[in-house]
Amino acid sequence: MDEGIDKGLIKEIALLKERLARKDREIEEIKMGGVFLETLFDGIHEQIMVIDEDFRIQDVNQVFLRHCGLKKEEVLGRRCYQVLYRSHQPCVFDRQPCPLEKARETGRRIEVTHYHRLEGGDLKELVRIMYPVSVEGKRPKYFVEISRDVTEYRRLIKRLQASEKRIRNILDTATDGILSVDQEQRIVLFNDAAEKIFGYSRKEVMGKNLNILIPRQYGDHHRYIRRFLATRTPKVLGETLSLTALRKGGEEFPIELSLSYHEMEGEVTFTAIIRDVSRQKQLEKKLLQSERLAAVGKTVAHVAHEIKNPLMIIGGFSQQIKQTLTDEKALQKLDMILDEVSRLERLVQNLGDFTREYRLMKRPADINSVLRDVLSLMSETSDPDKYEFEASLRADLREITCDPDKLKQVFINIITNGLEAMEQGGRIRVSTAECAKGIEIRISDEGVGIEEEALDHIFEPFFTTREGGSGLGLSISYKIVQAHKGDIWAESRPGKGTTFTIQLPC
Ligand SMILES: Nc1ncnc2c1ncn2[C@@H]1O[C@H](COP(=O)(O)OP(=O)(O)OP(=O)(O)O)[C@@H](O)[C@H]1O
Ligand SMILES: [Mg+2]
Repeated sequence: MDEGIDKGLIKEIALLKERLARKDREIEEIKMGGVFLETLFDGIHEQIMVIDEDFRIQDVNQVFLRHCGLKKEEVLGRRCYQVLYRSHQPCVFDRQPCPLEKARETGRRIEVTHYHRLEGGDLKELVRIMYPVSVEGKRPKYFVEISRDVTEYRRLIKRLQASEKRIRNILDTATDGILSVDQEQRIVLFNDAAEKIFGYSRKEVMGKNLNILIPRQYGDHHRYIRRFLATRTPKVLGETLSLTALRKGGEEFPIELSLSYHEMEGEVTFTAIIRDVSRQKQLEKKLLQSERLAAVGKTVAHVAHEIKNPLMIIGGFSQQIKQTLTDEKALQKLDMILDEVSRLERLVQNLGDFTREYRLMKRPADINSVLRDVLSLMSETSDPDKYEFEASLRADLREITCDPDKLKQVFINIITNGLEAMEQGGRIRVSTAECAKGIEIRISDEGVGIEEEALDHIFEPFFTTREGGSGLGLSISYKIVQAHKGDIWAESRPGKGTTFTIQLPC
């Protein structure tokens, strides 16, 4: 052979070798891919089946075989509905056709849920997803079906939902407010009673910081939570605490609170059970007030009675002496005596008002018109440059049976106090509304307000902070309202103003 041919042959052989090596590598890669796919195929927890368009099984994974208790050679080539359901035709569940037919029609992934009754009568729920396999846009010839048995999962969800519903029911029938916060102080639970107590709807508070319900003076709550998370030693957990909380309108009110916590997967949740004790506190105060009033009343009635007659004598004789006197100085002194006597007589009259068991002259009356009379009287007798009066009276307020003259006295006392609390001037607001008990009258001022310690005593006789005040105005008002079987109370923000509320039954 000549040298040229030799060289050509060697080159050809080298090329062939190289091509063979490349093919070997490709075969190796394909094999690897196959192994990889097979591992995936058998490793997946779902049942996988590959079928052709005639329902004939081409391949299945181990989970599938385990599920139907057959060997691979026993299923390959058979129709899927024969293997799976021992049926002679494609399955129809709940009027849903076989997903293969739909996947074949649309060329798209189809997902259906099938319910299948087992021999024992239990219902099995299967999610079946059929993927058409099409090569280069051609009509699909093979289909991969992945089935997942979701019976247990659904059962768990249903049980969870039922238990959640039960807990929600318990939470919402509880009369105490129940709320939970996470460790970032975000509200994560807020029951119906909490909605009523705080005036917020659940929607408004969920996810919000707990601070919206806590008066500012309690400071940084996060500090306590941080300390608890660091030390895990509960300081206040398990105790009942007497605190105050904030309603939506900004009103601070007394509560009793007990705290608990639980931890799940490192997440701590704090739960508070809250009782609104404002009504209870009011009742306690009222009881105390009535007892004090009764005790003081007896003594005062006695003293007033003893003073009345000597006063009459002093007054009467002074008048008689006055007529006989001509000396200027003596006359002046006698006038002073007479002035003081009439001041004392007014006081005794007031004391009489306070100690008297009120006998009311009841008749049906419209409180709005009583208030209008009082307001026009008050605005006529007060400085118009300093004081304003604003009324928002509910139209069609129902009439109540009451003693309108006595109630007029109550309104005048309260408004007079309001004016006295606003030395620099300001506005008195009067409003009426209907309430569960009957009707409600609110009278507010923008005056100096009342300190908390004083607030407990303002309805007591002789309690006064005003120079020249007798401290009887409010205790008389209290008795009149009580005689009507009504309620009266005051709320005040020192420096901001005071609101008196009177509720009267119909
Ligand atoms: N609107 C108000 N703003 C601030 N303090 C008030 C108000 N109403 C009542 N008070 C406080 O309550 C006290 C008692 O009021 P009350 O009307 O019973 O007596 P008084 O006004 O002092 O005397 P008087 O017997 O002449 O009415 C007052 O002295 C005052 O300290
Ligand atoms: Mg007064």
